[in-house]
Amino acid sequence: MSATRAQEEAGRLDAADPLSTLRAEFAIPPWPGGRHPEWAYFAGNSLGLMPRAARAALDAELGEWARLAVEGWFEAREPWLEYAGALRPSVATLVGASPDEIAVVGTLSVNLHLLLASFFRPGGERRRILIEDTAFPSDSHVVRSQAAWHGLDPDETVLRVAPRDGEATLRVEDVVEAIERDGESLALVLLGAVNYLTGEVLPLREITEATHRAGAVCGWDLAHAIGNVPVDLHESGADFAAWCHYKYVNGGPGAPAGIFVNERHWREAEPLRLAGWWAVDPATRFRMEPGFVPRRGAEGWAISTPPIVAYAPLRASLALFDRVGMAALRERSIRLTGWLETLLDDVAATRRITLITPREVDRRGSQLSIAVEHAEAVARRLRHEHGVVCDVRQPDVLRFAPAPLYSSFEDCSRAAAALRDLSEPR
Ligand SMILES: Cc1ncc(COP(=O)(O)O)c(C=O)c1O
Repeated sequence: MSATRAQEEAGRLDAADPLSTLRAEFAIPPWPGGRHPEWAYFAGNSLGLMPRAARAALDAELGEWARLAVEGWFEAREPWLEYAGALRPSVATLVGASPDEIAVVGTLSVNLHLLLASFFRPGGERRRILIEDTAFPSDSHVVRSQAAWHGLDPDETVLRVAPRDGEATLRVEDVVEAIERDGESLALVLLGAVNYLTGEVLPLREITEATHRAGAVCGWDLAHAIGNVPVDLHESGADFAAWCHYKYVNGGPGAPAGIFVNERHWREAEPLRLAGWWAVDPATRFRMEPGFVPRRGAEGWAISTPPIVAYAPLRASLALFDRVGMAALRERSIRLTGWLETLLDDVAATRRITLITPREVDRRGSQLSIAVEHAEAVARRLRHEHGVVCDVRQPDVLRFAPAPLYSSFEDCSRAAAALRDLSEPR
């Protein structure tokens, strides 16, 4: 398809989709002096764009601080004492859990450590941890340092399941086979529900069930899944999960994160955990007693005073998800990603780029990754010469995330035309 035809077709697709109007709710970074007024932004799987409502939300809390100071904890229009808790229903909907199974708290890697303090309890032969070979580096650092913290050898403790030779993505049967093979020695499986590099979606339920059959605990990193694909944490039987809110959820750089702890772990018993006063029921917290009686639910893993000002943009963003709903977003995401795929296939016919994300719609979300030579240089030129912003992952991967809340079909045709211009001919 010629660039002009693709652009015209994209214009028609944008005009025909009622959700295209959502773009106006976001600050799209400008491209000063460029051929287009704005960037075509595809780095939503690193940092989502700012919802315009974030500014007012932030300003509102600064106003309450100015007006009420410490009394804001109790008397702000949205009392700060329950500000984080009030976000749980929206987040719970995005991850398929009950609000009590959720806490909006902390940051992802730190939360993983806190959850592993409860859920990685190596004993006897059962002490190994299985992750993906292409796990996000921080997840690898978390589990390896946990192993060392427990006096274990990280190389011997952490098993990595890799794609087959010549393949970019995991086969589910290989993950299940790895779990079964090491079943007796396995304490924990920790996987990304959507792989950060390839965008591959793993089936939560199938892998969680295989983990439980092996007698191990199953945790999920939802960093690239939340706000991207529908997730059903509770139904999957997952033991715990953690994620950030700064990618597809657009909660802002370093936004407060989220955790899930399946209710079976706190309904009846009190699991071992690392504790702090913010886990204590607010009704008794300020009695300042040394005894620790945690809240029932995932908020029992909260530790410190929440940074309210940092929560405000997240609150504004979640309101958009509440309004539009994941089902409608997923539907648009499938169409947008499919459109980008068609255009990239066209480019790949004559240029040396290779799509490494699964082709099947239910095995991917709003992300297409391509392998390309000189990825770093191509990304730089995409941005500076075409105003197209994507992510580079060394050595040779470019990630494009057409986010259904703000990316347009036209952004996709711009990206494809730019790639055709910049990549090597076959
Ligand atoms: C899959 C995954 N896990 C963990 C992290 C680390 O998150 P944080 O820096 O918020 O701890 C990231 C960050 O991008 C990620 O993508």
